[in-house]
Amino acid sequence: MRRKLAAGNWKMNGISASLTELESLATVHANAGVDILICPPATLIHRAAETTKDTGIRIGGQDCHANAAGAHTGDIGAQMLKDAGATAVIVGHSERREDHDERNEDVRAKAKAAIDAGLTALICLGESLAQREAANTLDIIAGQMSGSIPDLATGENMVIAYEPIWAIGTGKVPTLEQIGEVHDFIRTRLERRFGEGVGRSIRLLYGGSVKPANAAEIFAVPNVDGALVGGASLKTADFSPIISALETS
Ligand code: PGA
Repeated sequence: MRRKLAAGNWKMNGISASLTELESLATVHANAGVDILICPPATLIHRAAETTKDTGIRIGGQDCHANAAGAHTGDIGAQMLKDAGATAVIVGHSERREDHDERNEDVRAKAKAAIDAGLTALICLGESLAQREAANTLDIIAGQMSGSIPDLATGENMVIAYEPIWAIGTGKVPTLEQIGEVHDFIRTRLERRFGEGVGRSIRLLYGGSVKPANAAEIFAVPNVDGALVGGASLKTADFSPIISALETS
């Protein structure tokens, strides 16, 4: 059985005052029936981990360097994230792929570094609007999977998020059939590559404009094990109903 996961990606949002959102989230979901992960900006990871330490909420990073340490000004290594209190890290988000020219092989190296440091790697995949309109979605996903996912993946050390780029922050969401098609495709390929046991144990999140209003129907799609939520994860008032929808799905 895969345990469901509600993950929040705060992106470049959040200062000290935002920690009160974590306090309220922890209070409202003190006995959550699902895993909850919040990925705040790196500057808040340590304090966020302290704030949530006796709660069910886990803290993650939004990126890590492929190397463990060294002369890489401004970058953060996976071990540093772990040391600050993170248990997971997002790698290969489309904003990183685009803004920082990250290619599949970079994402794979980052995911490997995360896993080597004892973190769960949350690997993001997803097609652009042009790729979807050209009916290339499944080819793109297949290429991202073989290029970005390291060989040592297991259900414990890796989570995959399917995030169509055109759905991120736009309010546009694929149809439930489209989400289901991609999630089934990813599951089948994971089973083929890692074997049935491991392939079935890896959690698949949907991400892109998940809101309280659409969460329940998305969570009812087979092979959707939770969500990676951007904008609606910033406030407990928005994220809490999404968590509740996942709990009852
Ligand atoms: P969104 O972002 O929920 O604001 O669309 C999702 C993401 O980028 O992870």
